[in-house]
Formats: sequence, C-alpha cells, structure tokens
Amino acid sequence: MKAKTLSPYESSSLPAIVGGVPVRPQEQRLVFGAPVIGEEEISAVVECLRSRWIGAGPGVERFEREFALYKGAPYAAALSSGTAALHLSLIALGIGPGDEVIAPAMTFCASIHAIVHTGATPILVDCERSTFNLDPALVERRINARTKAIMVVHMGGRCCNMDPIIQIARRHGLRVIEDCAHAIESNYHGTPSGLMGDVGCFSFYPTKNVTAGEGGMVITADRRLFRRVKLLSQQGMTVDPWTRSVRGYSGHRVIVAGYKANLTDIGACLALAQLAQVGERWKRRHEVWQTYSARLAQLPVCLPAPVEAGTRHAHHLYSLVLLPEKLRAGRKEVIAALAAENIGTGIHYVPVHMQPYYRRRFGFVRADFPNAAWLGENTLSIPLSPALSEGDVSDVCNALTRVLGYYAADAKPYRSQANEIGVLAGKSVEPNIRRRVNGSAALP
Ligand SMILES: Cc1ncc(COP(=O)(O)O)c(C=O)c1O
Repeated sequence: MKAKTLSPYESSSLPAIVGGVPVRPQEQRLVFGAPVIGEEEISAVVECLRSRWIGAGPGVERFEREFALYKGAPYAAALSSGTAALHLSLIALGIGPGDEVIAPAMTFCASIHAIVHTGATPILVDCERSTFNLDPALVERRINARTKAIMVVHMGGRCCNMDPIIQIARRHGLRVIEDCAHAIESNYHGTPSGLMGDVGCFSFYPTKNVTAGEGGMVITADRRLFRRVKLLSQQGMTVDPWTRSVRGYSGHRVIVAGYKANLTDIGACLALAQLAQVGERWKRRHEVWQTYSARLAQLPVCLPAPVEAGTRHAHHLYSLVLLPEKLRAGRKEVIAALAAENIGTGIHYVPVHMQPYYRRRFGFVRADFPNAAWLGENTLSIPLSPALSEGDVSDVCNALTRVLGYYAADAKPYRSQANEIGVLAGKSVEPNIRRRVNGSAALP
C-alpha cells in the first residue's frame, strides 16, 4: 500500500509559535468577524449610489419594513448604530438623571455607556458562568425606588432567561430593554428577541450577523416609543429629509433637541441584501457550531452551554472558556499561539466593571462580579462565519487541538518535538526566532 504523504503541517505537531508549521498559511489567515459580502450586497450598494439618494430615504424605509416583517415587530426604527438604538430607547422611555437601570456586568461597554449618557446610574449584576447571561436570581435585590428599568443582553445570541426577568419587571413596574446586538435570529419560548420587553435594540456593526457597515434598529410594539425614537434620531425634527425633499412637505418643526442618529440608504441597501440571506447564513453557522461542539469536546475548555429547548440561538459567537487549572499558559499566550497558526480570535468581553473608566467612576473591584470577571479573563471566541468552509473549520479545530495540547497542564515534556526541529531537549523553544526552510522550521 502506498504511504500517505504528509503535508508539512501534518508532519509536525509543534505549534507554529514555537517553530512548527502553521495550520494555514499567512495569506489565508482567518480574520475573526470578517463580514460576508457577496455580489448581492455589492450590487445593492452600487444601485443605491447610482440613485444619488444616499442619506436616509427609501432604502431606510424599506429596511425598516422588512426588518419589522422579519422580526414580527409592529414598529421598527433604523438608526446609525446599536449604541444609538440603546441610548435613544432609554431616553424615549423617559430614563434620565436620578434613575437607576439594572444591567449586566458581562457585556460590551456600549450597553452601559448608553445608560450613563442618559444621566442615569447603571446598577450592574453578575452573570451565570454557563451562559454569560445576566443571572435573574441577582436582579430583585438590586431594585429600589430609583430603579426604572432592566437592560438584558442576549450574549452571543443566546436569549437570557427571560421568564423570571419579565416577571420581576412586571412585579416592580419596570421597563425592559433588550440589547439584541448578538441576537438578530434569536427567539425564546416562541417570542422573537427584542419583543419580550418594551424595546429591542439591534446592531449592524460589521461583525454582526447582518451588517449595514454601521447601523442599528429599535423594534417595539409601542407606537409612542417608536415615534419618539424616530424623532430623536432626526435632530428632533418632525419631518425627515426624504419626506421633505421628495414628498413635497414644506417646512418642519424642531420640537426637541434631538440627535443625529439616522441610518443611511447606503447602509440600509447593504443590510437589505444581507437580511435576504439571513436564514441561509444562520444554517451554515449552525452547522459550524455543531462541528465545533463535536470536535472540541475533549479539550481543556468549557464549550458554550447547549442551546436551551424551546429557544433559537442566533449563533453569533462561539465563545470557549479556557480552564486555567488545566493549562500551563494564560489566554494571552493561547491567543498569540493561535495567531501564529493564522487563526484570528476575539474576546467577548472584558466585563464593564473591569474597565478603567467604570472602575474609577463607580469604584468597582474584580470581586463585585466574580463570574463576569472569571469569564472575562478566560473566554476566547473562535471564528463563526457562514463563509467558513469545511477546511477552515477543520483548521480552527486542528489549531486549537494543537495549541491547547501543547499548553495542557498534563502534557508530556516536548522533548520529541524539540528534537524534531533540532533543539536540545530541556532548552526552551523561543517563539519568533525560527526561519522556515522549505516549509520546515530551522534554527537561525
Ligand atoms: C452587546 C452589544 N451591545 C451594543 C453594541 C453596540 O452596537 P454598535 O457597535 O452598532 O453601536 C454592541 C456592538 O458590538 C454589542 O456587541
């Protein structure tokens, strides 16, 4: 039988950071969070440019209609970002100085900035270790006479445990804001994300499951809230520019000092082309998710919690948690080793209470929210894009297996691999000092 010829990568089990051959070449580096832009998106944007109406206009109106239809939402207001969606929703709900909003420590800073920008005080709560989501059991004890709302963030695309959260909100007369930046396709016990509380806020940032370049959306069943958000997003003017110039309305009134926070038609046309493919792309991410869960199960990491029955996960992030007690290297080293394999990764997130601004302003310490702190120190997100081929997914799995195998606390000394590249056993193998000759590593 003819022996299989091994590729340079296959013939070396040593991670690239210590001289092995990377699982994929640098020219094919997997960039974490790169958007999928096909011909449909390119034509849609070109068509918009050719139309010469590139600001907020018919494209935005169509995107609002189609997004509302997709989510089953009575009203949808397109905005310039997810941050603006959160900020204007809070203002439209009447939240301001003297008020408190309960929100998770484990989130992107934008969720909490939105609260701070209204003049209200964010009251952070810890998350569950298994889901990264706000722990409902911790919410009620933080409620007092100043509490006006609860903000939830559906981390990674997994809906928070909304039944108890909605019950608590009802019991105390609080508003609920859903940060759905990760949760476009999610639903929970039959209700789409964004429609369980008073208002749902979405982001169309480039890494999101649907992108507008930059953009956001507010969905709600509350007509008054919708109208306020719209008004606030267009400088507080009663008539938007498209209606003024094309539909022949003369004059407009400024009835509030609003914000400049509208989406543009360029962004909306890009997002419309993305939205048309949202189902297909979700299916591919779902497959990738399942492959990861099967192939990474034996590694010294916690995998994402299984999808809860009766819910739909948006599969926005595949976030692992490295188990420090099982590894002899920290996350920084693991990220660097994966980068050397040409696999990009992300961190979602260093929690808000560990960020310098919030530490300074509110005096937070690590122990205030220990689960969020622990996850923030050890989590690592790996590529989860519908553009990933089987080969790409395999490369991610191989790179992780190789790197975590190398750094496993119980790993055997790397004598044989060291010898393989001509290093004397017992001597450390320094990264970045190797020259590759014909695909194999050699000492300089
Ligand atoms: C959880 C969360 N909330 C809010 C935002 C803000 O969205 P945007 O970047 O569109 O302002 C993001 C964006 O990354 C996010 O991940």
